[in-house]
Amino acid sequence: MKVMGIVAGRHNGNSEIMVKEALLACQEAGAECTLINLFDYNILPCTGCEGCTMNMGEVAQGKGEYRGCVLKEKDDVDKLITAMQQQDGVIIGCPTYDLMPSSVYTRFAQRFLAYEQAFLLKIGALKEDKHCVAGLIAVGGSCHDWQGLTLETMAASMFTQSIQVVDQYMTTRVGRPGNVLLREDHLKRAHQMGENIIKAIQTPVGEREWLGDPDLGLCPNCHGGLIFKGDVHWDGIQFPFECAVCGAGGDLVKDENGKVKFVLAENGLCRDRNVDKCRDLHLDEIIETRIHFFQNIDQVKEKSGKYRDLKFPAV
Ligand SMILES: Cc1cc2nc3c(=O)[nH]c(=O)nc-3n(C[C@H](O)[C@H](O)[C@H](O)COP(=O)(O)O)c2cc1C
Repeated sequence: MKVMGIVAGRHNGNSEIMVKEALLACQEAGAECTLINLFDYNILPCTGCEGCTMNMGEVAQGKGEYRGCVLKEKDDVDKLITAMQQQDGVIIGCPTYDLMPSSVYTRFAQRFLAYEQAFLLKIGALKEDKHCVAGLIAVGGSCHDWQGLTLETMAASMFTQSIQVVDQYMTTRVGRPGNVLLREDHLKRAHQMGENIIKAIQTPVGEREWLGDPDLGLCPNCHGGLIFKGDVHWDGIQFPFECAVCGAGGDLVKDENGKVKFVLAENGLCRDRNVDKCRDLHLDEIIETRIHFFQNIDQVKEKSGKYRDLKFPAV
């Protein structure tokens, strides 16, 4: 069993301590553990060039070879993701900055697209599907009310790697580095997360289940807490409400005790981003949008001059 801890917080900070405590449990169970702190690596932001997805489209149609990310030789991300894709489990600890994960984490995670695991497996660039599982730890100085986007954003970053999130925990009210050492409950829960990761790894892939707090979040599919009013999708599908993280669709209803529940529609998982088949449908949307763009490229060229030539002073 290989488990990697990924920390996006300060050295000797609260995220690092929580992840180390979780890794201890994995080590006790016999796992080979590694730990990286993202601050130690050069991680360039995704340039947004779309070179990877354009190239993936070509390769899928049998044209050419996959070149990977344009930044591949320029920073440490290739090394980090390559190591991550060899793991059976990952435990990620990230501080909340302004309600959301710190940018060190999102900068790293937004580079995952060029390494989309399902695609790399399909073209043989990745030999083995490790069916990796993840435990996510958010850390913040405040309670849930000031950390409302962290775990959800971290969970949303997992689908391009086809990583199954089996546990999540929000570490509340720890501010200064080491503050979490005063909170035995948090440390105990981190240890439990390590145990949960081992339990998931030792469970046959198709039988793996959520091992975190059963009441976490509203979504019965991914335990995310962000449910929004649904709009019409590109292909006409619409749900009254949707989960912002996994894309599950359904309705908000009150049970017999007056408790609000998010009940999935019959076809409510047809947009589940964690399922490769559903992500393929999203690819259809991207392809359709691109076809429309290229069919109308003359119009774009004609209109773009106005904006290209429009200049405002920078700072
Ligand atoms: C720029 C910045 C923004 C922050 N915003 C929040 C916030 O919105 N909510 C919160 O609970 N804590 C916030 N914090 C506090 C950190 O999450 C907290 O100090 C945490 O323990 C840092 O993790 P670390 O010790 O692993 O680095 C913020 C800290 C910084 C530096």
